[in-house]
Amino acid sequence: MASGLPKLSQKFIEPLTIGNVTLKSRVLQSPLSGVTDLVFRRLVRRYAPDSMLYTEMISATDLHHMKALPKLIEIDRNETPISIQLFDCRPDFLAEAAQKAAVSGADTIDINMGCPVNKITKKGGGSSLLRQPELAAQIVRSVVEAVDIPVTVKTRIGWDDAEITILDFAKRMEDAGAKMITVHARTRSQGYTGDAKWEWIRKVKEVLTIPVIANGDIFSVEAAIACLEQTGADGVMCSRGTLGYPFLVGEVDHFLKTGEELPKPTPIECLQVAKEHLQGLWDYKGIHGLYQSRKHMTWYAKGFVGAAALRDRLCRIESVQDGMDCLDSAIEQIANQDVFEAIASEDMVEMIAMKQ
Ligand SMILES: Cc1cc2nc3c(=O)[nH]c(=O)nc-3n(C[C@H](O)[C@H](O)[C@H](O)COP(=O)(O)O)c2cc1C
Repeated sequence: MASGLPKLSQKFIEPLTIGNVTLKSRVLQSPLSGVTDLVFRRLVRRYAPDSMLYTEMISATDLHHMKALPKLIEIDRNETPISIQLFDCRPDFLAEAAQKAAVSGADTIDINMGCPVNKITKKGGGSSLLRQPELAAQIVRSVVEAVDIPVTVKTRIGWDDAEITILDFAKRMEDAGAKMITVHARTRSQGYTGDAKWEWIRKVKEVLTIPVIANGDIFSVEAAIACLEQTGADGVMCSRGTLGYPFLVGEVDHFLKTGEELPKPTPIECLQVAKEHLQGLWDYKGIHGLYQSRKHMTWYAKGFVGAAALRDRLCRIESVQDGMDCLDSAIEQIANQDVFEAIASEDMVEMIAMKQ
């Protein structure tokens, strides 16, 4: 479909190099705890064959104590390019976890230095590392030493508005050996509220030589283009925009490569993908997957008459069959509505023609 969006520079169809890894796409699917498991990633991969995907964040301490590796670190051999994201504050545990992640098949190791959740920051991980830049640098150095694959960092612009430290912090990460940095352009105290301050990504880009990936408020192709234009970043990472919408990364990637917008999936197509997602979660995780599927299902159900009532049902499903029945009847209802609207508009055309 021809697009009214501006053409971006040639750079965006060129590969993105992260140390010794080359990506054919500059659009990345972010790590999302409770979301980017194997089942979700398979859906994203279908529409975005070249994009880097990320696992959910995984605690290096947990990995150290576990006898068997958890599902969190499990990746498909054909999922590549994929990054395993780790969090923790102990350089030795992170180095050990990175080795396990490399054996699991990760193409890169990403270290989470942005998570704002108290449970994580109280233990010294996630965004609390923004306040301990020397420890953060030591972590990067020990992980780089432990593995042959590139090590990257995902972080925020600072702790709060009075403490925006990203320029110094990002430079330290680069000097410690990080091969790429993703900047979520919010402070820790913002959580997920307020606008992402993309202007800080531009400033980071000016002081680093490694690739800088822009993150925050990328909910559409238009937003991705605006962000890339305003920041000059080397790529863009989609996050909440992909909840119930595993098409977004592929849509942005397609636009960057061709200058054309893909047609949006219809509500029926979205609900059909929701059915696959539900079945996948059940097959992969059993009852736990079913419970997790409730939130996913409600995210898919939007943009059509009756969506609110459907969401209300989906967040209480008790079995896969229950969920499938809800989704099937919504699909049938939308299809009947479409037929009704098509007939109504044909009648209208006929009436206008008769009047003339
Ligand atoms: C439900 C949820 C889970 C998240 N889990 C992670 C995570 O595991 N690792 C991480 O680095 N960021 C995580 N994030 C942050 C996102 O990757 C992203 O940085 C943030 O949502 C900003 O982008 P957005 O404004 O486009 O959503 C999470 C965000 C949400 C909403």
